[in-house]
Amino acid sequence: MNVLNSGIGNYVFCNGKKYSYFAGNNYLGMAGHPSVKAASIEAVKKYGVNFSASRHTTGTADIHLELEKQLSLFKGKQDTVVFSSGYQGNGILLELLKPGYSAVFIDQFAHPSIASGIPREISNIFHYNHCDTDHLEMLLQDFKGFRPLIITDGVFALTGEIAPLDKIYSLAEKYNAILIVDDAHSTGILGENGRGTVEHFKLGNSENIYQTETMSKALGGYGGFISGSLEITGLIREKSATYQASTALPPPIAAAGIASLEILRKEPELRIKLLKRAGELKKEITRLDFKTSEDNTPIIPIMLSSLARAKELSRFLEENGIIVPFMNYPVKLEFYILRIAVSTDHTDDQAVLLVDMLKKWRDKNGTH
Ligand SMILES: Cc1ncc(COP(=O)(O)O)c(C=O)c1O
Repeated sequence: MNVLNSGIGNYVFCNGKKYSYFAGNNYLGMAGHPSVKAASIEAVKKYGVNFSASRHTTGTADIHLELEKQLSLFKGKQDTVVFSSGYQGNGILLELLKPGYSAVFIDQFAHPSIASGIPREISNIFHYNHCDTDHLEMLLQDFKGFRPLIITDGVFALTGEIAPLDKIYSLAEKYNAILIVDDAHSTGILGENGRGTVEHFKLGNSENIYQTETMSKALGGYGGFISGSLEITGLIREKSATYQASTALPPPIAAAGIASLEILRKEPELRIKLLKRAGELKKEITRLDFKTSEDNTPIIPIMLSSLARAKELSRFLEENGIIVPFMNYPVKLEFYILRIAVSTDHTDDQAVLLVDMLKKWRDKNGTH
């Protein structure tokens, strides 16, 4: 097991040794950003480490309200609610929107937080083939008697693929379905203002698309959030047991969120730099003839045909000072994935070394 002995950045110390780090989700380098760290330290000095109460009882602090205000500005939405983790967001919405649907249509490779968030009373669950909107429409047709809710990841955690949200949205309109997109990996990255896949596809401020988001990836901190109309945020505050009965976000985490949003606002070029770097690296990997996905996101998968080969490549890279994990994850795909996560902090030298090592392995072992 890899055990970190340092914080995360473009390099880490792991099991006592220094590695070039192409893992995790710290896409914009915010987790170790000096201003984010300083804000967290100040918050601990002012508030301690925990409010030790739920938001609904006595745990709401001025720092939560400020974070929610800043998130609403970032998203261009009326209001925002923050809660303990991104994982909870799908369950919160699926529970609260229950009166409006009787069947769930879900991408077969959706994140586990989606399946585990479907309320027990909902037994009509239909998996459509991955990103396959023809199959989704066929299922919507076949099960027309139900009131549908469609749910998908915006960017898929393992493959970095962008869901065809424009087409899914058209189907949601056509079949009068509720649509939820889990934008954990798109927040801060995709769209003109980093607002995620809805903005990426220019679907405007569509109030009938719900987004669940997290501050744990591009924003470098922790905690889930949902931005939207006062109607939906009010419903969460008034009715969600998950929101009402879990401890409020700790002070250093709330402060980290506020600080990283400020950086995002002041330095939009970070996003552009990230996608440029990711695009260049993906081009090199494609040139080496490794199988990868097409979309330009900071997640670059290398898809291999067997578990043994995936583990072997990950081990080879590690022996050469680079961490790219083989993804042993609850989402089961048809292939075995090494997941390269690109960050704005990576240097050209790191990218060159990674490509060199992949080439060396390929020359001996092939690509599939
Ligand atoms: C698509 C997706 N949704 C939700 C989550 C959960 O977010 P968090 O780890 O912030 O709770 C993750 C994290 O791995 C994810 O990849």
